[in-house]
Amino acid sequence: MYSEVIPASRARDAMEDPAAKGIILSGSYRSVRSESRDWSILKEAKKPVLGICYGHQLIAHVLGGEVQEGVGEYGRVECRIARRTKLLAGVRRRTVVWMSHRDHVTRTPDGFTVDACTRSCKVAAMSCEKLQIYGVQFHPEVHHTREGRKILKNFLFRVCRCSGGWKPEDTIDHRVRQIKLTVGGERALCAVSGGVDSTTAALIARRAIGDNLRCILIDHGLMRKGERESILKSLSSLLGGIKVVEAQSRFLGRLKGVADPEEKRRVIGEEYAKVLQEAADEEGCSFLIQGTIYPDRVESGRGQASEASRIKTHHNVGGLPSWLKLKVVEPLADLYKDEVRKIAAKIGVPSEIIWRHPFPGPGLAVRVIGEVTPEKLHVCREASHIVEEELKKAKLYRKVWQAFAVVGDDKATGVKGDKRALGYIVTVRVVTSVDGMTADWAKLPHSLLDRISSRITGEIQQVTWVTYAITTKPPATIEPV
Ligand code: XMP
Repeated sequence: MYSEVIPASRARDAMEDPAAKGIILSGSYRSVRSESRDWSILKEAKKPVLGICYGHQLIAHVLGGEVQEGVGEYGRVECRIARRTKLLAGVRRRTVVWMSHRDHVTRTPDGFTVDACTRSCKVAAMSCEKLQIYGVQFHPEVHHTREGRKILKNFLFRVCRCSGGWKPEDTIDHRVRQIKLTVGGERALCAVSGGVDSTTAALIARRAIGDNLRCILIDHGLMRKGERESILKSLSSLLGGIKVVEAQSRFLGRLKGVADPEEKRRVIGEEYAKVLQEAADEEGCSFLIQGTIYPDRVESGRGQASEASRIKTHHNVGGLPSWLKLKVVEPLADLYKDEVRKIAAKIGVPSEIIWRHPFPGPGLAVRVIGEVTPEKLHVCREASHIVEEELKKAKLYRKVWQAFAVVGDDKATGVKGDKRALGYIVTVRVVTSVDGMTADWAKLPHSLLDRISSRITGEIQQVTWVTYAITTKPPATIEPV
């Protein structure tokens, strides 16, 4: 299924778009009791609507029902299904759903039936099948809702009558045409990082504009061990050559004394943009091809769903300054990582790149807590290499989303060579995730953690302690900075 996330301010466009087969009104951290936007469009809805949590309450609020503040219900809850509507077809009479709300629907609008309830929520699901409007107080999109996928499938296939034939890899030609149209006969610059996003974006652009695409690799001194060489080896011929921009001292110079996470990202983003502009001027490029993907934009508070709150400034999205003269083209901006990987496989990206873990644009700088010093950078780089190498040996590399080491300023006492030593504390972070939006820490075998730990303290002289990060996202993020 192809879907787009759009802000509430564009709801009318979506409702009136003949190509949209159905609308899902998502959850929100706000209360509909203070909703001031005009939602009369819901009264005229001519296509199926599914409201989730806030969306469910919004339907009640707008269509003449009632929403009040309640005691709140959080986490896994047993839900009883009273009516098996098209939405709830095939769902067990007693099922487990994930709740996260305080407000709740206390009266359904006229013409609506109550389809499910929980112990403290009388209207856990409601519908008006005649109008094809459905609401659920719980979150079918969260995997803790046992039959959530079934409910979403029911909405798509039974209610909206979607066919389900959309495949990201079938959209390559369209993306190529779009770039041709946008860039025309001009030149475009693409900074590759060796990751699947920028590589795929570059290959699509190369298909579109051939040698008018100029690829560069900015060596900001924040890359992983051996990364520069391996990128050049695997991508140079595919992209018709890659020019390396030596910028290590520029970046490291600007990072001196910078400890604040957002400031670090801002500084790197700004320097990155300067390097890009200089390279573009040199190559005569007026366009910039970026491998931005959907979650980058959402978390930078710059999605089409622009009402999402900003979590971090991803330098490739939030940080490009207004003075940059380049026109930005983002051929993958509507896709999630798993979808990019499907396109990558079809377009000929080498498999070691497709399955390489995501690596953030600001590089190791976001894995060094506090100021980025040459020594901390060295520790982080060597330790991360050990973590990746051991995971690969254990055949677990592909099973996890990311695996790396983090270093900060904290030091701990150890004994090395019979002598007291004060050294860095390295934190190993290995997470599993589907799309980077949420993540869990990987339950690695103790023997593997043991090997990683002894190699790090054994091979990196400056390290005395190794810890393992066991916080999920949320509340943590994947990268520490
Ligand atoms: P967080 O740390 O926000 O990361 O949970 C989510 C995913 O995004 C990656 N990430 C970045 N990628 N530029 C990028 O291109 C960035 O500034 C950036 N910050 C985080 C992170 O590695 C994870 O996969």
